[in-house]
Amino acid sequence: MGVFMRILTVLYILASVECYKFENTLGHIKPKASPDVQSVAVQQLIQRILHQKALKFSVNVDPQFLVDNKEAFKVFKDRKGIINIVGTSGVAAATGFHHYLKYFCNAHISWEVSQLELPEELPAANITISFNDRFRYYQNTCTTSYSFVWWDWQRWEKHIDWMALNSYNFVLAFNGQEAIWERVYKKLNFSQKDIDEHFTGPAFLSWLRMGNMRGWGGPLSSAWHERSIWLQKKILERMRSLGMIPILPAFAGHLPRAIKRIYPDVNVTKMDIWNNFNDTYCCPYFLDPTEPLFKVIGKMFLEEQIKEFGTDHVYNCDSFNEVDPPTTALNYLSNVGKSIYGAMTESDPDAVWIMQGWLFVHSFFFWTPNRVKALLTSVPNGKMIILDLQSEEFPQFDRLQQYFGQPYIWCMLHDFGGTLGMFGSASIVNENVIKARNQENSTMIGTGLTPEGINQNYVIYDLMSESAWRKEPSDLQQWFRNYTIRRYGKVNEDIIRAWQVLKDSVYNFRGLDRMRGKYSITWTPSLDINIWTWYNYSDVFDAWDIFVQNAQELQDSPAFSHDLVDLTRQALQINGDIYYKKIIAAFKAKDYERFYVESRIFKNIFDDLETILSTDKAFLLGPWIESAKKCANNSKERDLFEFNARNQITLWGPNGEIINYANKQWSGIVAKYYKPRWDLFIAAMNASLAKDIPFNEKKVKANMFREVEEPFTFDRSIFPIEPTGNPVQAAKEIHRKWGVHYRKVHPKELEKFVGGNNRREPLVSLIKK
Ligand SMILES: *[C@@H]1O[C@H](CO)[C@@H](O)[C@H](O)[C@H]1NC(C)=O
Ligand SMILES: *[C@@H]1O[C@H](CO)[C@@H](O)[C@H](O)[C@H]1NC(C)=O
Ligand SMILES: *[C@@H]1O[C@H](CO)[C@@H](O)[C@H](O)[C@H]1NC(C)=O
Ligand SMILES: *[C@@H]1O[C@H](CO)[C@@H](O)[C@H](O)[C@H]1NC(C)=O
Ligand SMILES: *[C@@H]1O[C@H](CO)[C@@H](O)[C@H](O)[C@H]1NC(C)=O
Ligand SMILES: *[C@@H]1O[C@H](CO)[C@@H](O)[C@H](O)[C@H]1NC(C)=O
Ligand SMILES: *[C@@H]1O[C@H](CO)[C@@H](O)[C@H](O)[C@H]1NC(C)=O
Ligand SMILES: *[C@@H]1O[C@H](CO)[C@@H](O)[C@H](O)[C@H]1NC(C)=O
Ligand SMILES: *[C@@H]1O[C@H](CO)[C@@H](O)[C@H](O)[C@H]1NC(C)=O
Repeated sequence: MGVFMRILTVLYILASVECYKFENTLGHIKPKASPDVQSVAVQQLIQRILHQKALKFSVNVDPQFLVDNKEAFKVFKDRKGIINIVGTSGVAAATGFHHYLKYFCNAHISWEVSQLELPEELPAANITISFNDRFRYYQNTCTTSYSFVWWDWQRWEKHIDWMALNSYNFVLAFNGQEAIWERVYKKLNFSQKDIDEHFTGPAFLSWLRMGNMRGWGGPLSSAWHERSIWLQKKILERMRSLGMIPILPAFAGHLPRAIKRIYPDVNVTKMDIWNNFNDTYCCPYFLDPTEPLFKVIGKMFLEEQIKEFGTDHVYNCDSFNEVDPPTTALNYLSNVGKSIYGAMTESDPDAVWIMQGWLFVHSFFFWTPNRVKALLTSVPNGKMIILDLQSEEFPQFDRLQQYFGQPYIWCMLHDFGGTLGMFGSASIVNENVIKARNQENSTMIGTGLTPEGINQNYVIYDLMSESAWRKEPSDLQQWFRNYTIRRYGKVNEDIIRAWQVLKDSVYNFRGLDRMRGKYSITWTPSLDINIWTWYNYSDVFDAWDIFVQNAQELQDSPAFSHDLVDLTRQALQINGDIYYKKIIAAFKAKDYERFYVESRIFKNIFDDLETILSTDKAFLLGPWIESAKKCANNSKERDLFEFNARNQITLWGPNGEIINYANKQWSGIVAKYYKPRWDLFIAAMNASLAKDIPFNEKKVKANMFREVEEPFTFDRSIFPIEPTGNPVQAAKEIHRKWGVHYRKVHPKELEKFVGGNNRREPLVSLIKK
């Protein structure tokens, strides 16, 4: 670099000092691809989305195009009718393109469905928008396992496009790391057997990586490693060409058990048991970060990884996710921080450490402010980034005093385990991001999405993503109106009203209860499932009525059809909870007649649920299993991967260690798993009532495990990957049956109605068999 260029660079860096916080420590974290490469990448992205219409768009990536010293995009239509997009990076330009689609063309792109009916004559525009923060982060360390695990390149390509369109420039890239580890382990003289008993199967890698478990669902084959490396390289290349910063993993301290044989004198501790996994599958060893060997292995890993994938200098490392450090001594915690960061800088002097702040929520009592301070301030200020992982419900930045000066990112976690129930915290997301940024001495440097699983409740992710640029909270009434119009490509005032109802009910959660997809139909049958919700069931039924009434008019919209299925699913899920309570009440009252009637109705829910879900591709079990099988290299592996896929969404562990956690309301699993479970349970309740013998729940559950749950994971029957039936027809029929109930009844008052004869008759008459 010439002297002149150097001066220019210094001036450039100085000039940007007051724009974003922490420029002195994070200024080097920026796109590596040239502006030309980024422009071409965005032009190709537009081509993938709009095909020949893409010719009407022109993209120019210009890193100097700052607005108030901040990254920005500009969209305007020129005299020749071309839509010009200027952005400070590829991601900025892609966001500008998406903004134009959303706010000028009323188009919509979501995970499952899109609405891209653009006007023949592209509307005029002339807007410039700057980004609030430099970083928009995406992914939870669990998303890889719950959502992405079986994806091929095609699916990844589409999703990387989605990331760019929604402004995400700071994203995890986690494929292929076990392949790198295998090389490192071999250099350290671990045998193949040592490695095989360590690696989990693909569906459980997230928890291997965080040291929670080992071996379950494994081992991994060399074909899997090759595929992962190949995929990772394609992903990285695409992300970088769009101007994203991919975040790679670093060594967190977790090692195969054999470390103790190879280094008998080194201080390692067995990790604590996590979620009752037994010794075969739990507790890898944890190499104390203060041991000299920590740096040696950390360096070996990073060097091997950089050799294969290059680096953008940001590394994720979570040493104590859901497992506490062995001691509370402040100087120990401080040494841990120093060692982890030291191992990174040993091979990359420009390293920045990014950590999920989940431990501060999960182990709230361990991580007192003093201890957090000891850990965080051991790393040079501004060289560590904390993901405030569930800011919409359990923000920690206040309790932990802006992370004692370290930068953090405000993240919406929203979903656990990829479960499907409707919920979200729209008003909190809308307001609190901005409040947090404007706090005195705020160290917030970005916004993020950290869902454990995607493909549900898209609306809330669309809203949160806009916090990248919104300076003021949006008018939610108007925002939901706009969303509805974009999504369905039509102005239908009834449907707009239905979405307003959803906005004020399912999408306005403000409580502190933990949302974990606990609904009676998908939970393990039991006499005491704790059903709760924060909204009035009647709100969902009101919205459902409107959807069904307007179905004819909107049936050509794939997004509407998707949402009609989703709302019908939600209404059935609620009916499940309602009838669950009735069954239990009847059982406890030993009212055989009522038990018989209510349980018959309850069982009917599963058939209708199966019917409606089978009409939409997004709600099928088949694609999940078939995509798993496609990743396999041979029949034995195909079998193992299918087992991985089936086990994760049901038993989650050999003995139901985290049973139901990642449950899915999908066609296939409803009929072959959830329904048989309840059939068995209800039959046992019935027998107990009929014979007046005590009900042994433990024994029933053991039967259920043997007869339904475990067999489902070993079963190899094939499920459709394409939908069947007509969603509108199915929704209408189901609505006729289930839509008449519980107007304006708060769930808390439900008990009052249990047993009462409140409009049950019309329903029962429809359930013939
Ligand atoms: C866009 O708006 C800016 C000021 O708001 C104006 O200077 C510029 O000429 C406009 N450009 C076009 C192409 O209309
Ligand atoms: C691995 O084994 C080789 C050959 O026995 C030995 O030379 C080397 O030092 C060992 N490496 C480690 C890290 O123990
Ligand atoms: C299986 O893996 C081997 C070696 O990694 C590879 O040569 C072969 O092409 C793979 N076969 C399939 C069907 O993927
Ligand atoms: C090993 O590490 C633990 C936790 O850091 C510490 O308490 C213990 O004293 C260490 N043991 C040895 C032998 O260094
Ligand atoms: C752990 O559970 C698995 C599956 O149930 C079993 O095969 C294994 O023997 C158990 N291991 C231990 C140490 O109990
Ligand atoms: C912000 O920082 C200043 C300077 O360190 C300090 O005096 C002030 O109390 C801080 N404000 C808050 C709300 O922490
Ligand atoms: C809704 O869309 C209109 C028209 O594009 C726009 O002017 C308005 O700002 C949007 N409102 C919100 C809250 O997004
Ligand atoms: C539920 O409905 C009742 C009665 O209409 C109303 O008072 C209450 O505010 C509603 N609760 C919620 C959370 O919407
Ligand atoms: C309930 O148990 C009785 C007596 O064993 C049996 O006749 C009846 O078919 C059972 N009903 C159901 C729904 O299982």
